[in-house]
Amino acid sequence: MNSKRVQILSVGSSVPEAVLTNKDIESFLDTSDEWITVRTGIKQRHIIPKGEDISAADLGTQAASQALKKADIEPQDVDGIVCATFTPDYFFPSTACRIQAALGCKGGFAFDISAACAGFVYALTVANNMILCGQAKTMIVVGSEIISKTLDWTDRNSCILFGDGAGAVVLQAKDDLSKGIMASHIESDGNLGDILKLPAWGDKRFMQMRGNEVFKHAVRLMSDTSARVIKQTGIGINDIDLLIPHQANIRIIRAVADSLGFPMEKIIVNLDEYGNTSSASIPIALNEAWDDGLIKEGAKVLFTCLGGGVTVGSALVYF
Ligand code: ACO
Repeated sequence: MNSKRVQILSVGSSVPEAVLTNKDIESFLDTSDEWITVRTGIKQRHIIPKGEDISAADLGTQAASQALKKADIEPQDVDGIVCATFTPDYFFPSTACRIQAALGCKGGFAFDISAACAGFVYALTVANNMILCGQAKTMIVVGSEIISKTLDWTDRNSCILFGDGAGAVVLQAKDDLSKGIMASHIESDGNLGDILKLPAWGDKRFMQMRGNEVFKHAVRLMSDTSARVIKQTGIGINDIDLLIPHQANIRIIRAVADSLGFPMEKIIVNLDEYGNTSSASIPIALNEAWDDGLIKEGAKVLFTCLGGGVTVGSALVYF
């Protein structure tokens, strides 16, 4: 048995300044603020204005740099960076390598993970295991997305849902077994790949989604993996202090809460302000919860998410 556990020492986040409200979208699409609010809970999203040259690496670097400062850790002490993104700056170099250079890290490794909206929990799980195996001591996990550039802005089914942003956490191994990442579970079902996809080639290089199907699988799989990690740690659902779900749709979040028997009052929801920022949504919400004083010493926090692939992940962290 491992004598160490991996703790989340700090978190940072960054979103573009520019805001696109539902009302703004009404001006170019056959939709309404009311439809979007009732069906999704989203009121606005932060997006990079057309023509502005801000990349996933730029936002990711800002989030990671903030997290490093909060943890009082120097870039040269970072052994590894894992970046979850489906909107990389290049096929290569990876967004993580670009963040590594921009932060001024010396040495260590950096690579990207492609797990769409489940990317943060995938990256957290990989980093946790690498640290526990002794391959690194201090790592940064980043989720960073520039989704606005991948959308078909004439498709009202999908473009209303997303926003741009980044979040990052600093992880470190500690001898204290009473806190840290207590359990995590990742899973995928490639047979469901067609319900949500973003082709890399051809003339349809924009997000394509069968919303109803994504909705149903999201509720089922996020509930199942959450129940699984809770069971793994041997605690009860009532022992969990906060649930930070992927911010896709308020109705998905309510249905997951219902299915788990978990009260909405203990769930962090900020999709009204940011929309769905994919792999960035959990760390952005964690950052806000931390700033609001909700991540208290001893807090038991559950993350859960689902993304294209389909990919799904849940992690239970004691702070
Ligand atoms: N404005 C107005 N009307 C719209 C809009 C819009 N933006 N979008 C769709 N409609 C219409 C449809 O055309 C349809 O009209 P019709 O009945 O005349 O055919 C009607 O509204 C109902 O459409 P549905 O697709 O049944 O609406 P639903 O209640 O399922 O909501 C939504 C659609 C919001 C996309 C929902 O299915 C959803 O959120 N699914 C999950 C998708 C998701 O979160 N994807 C993100 C990536 S994966 C993840 O993060 C978990």
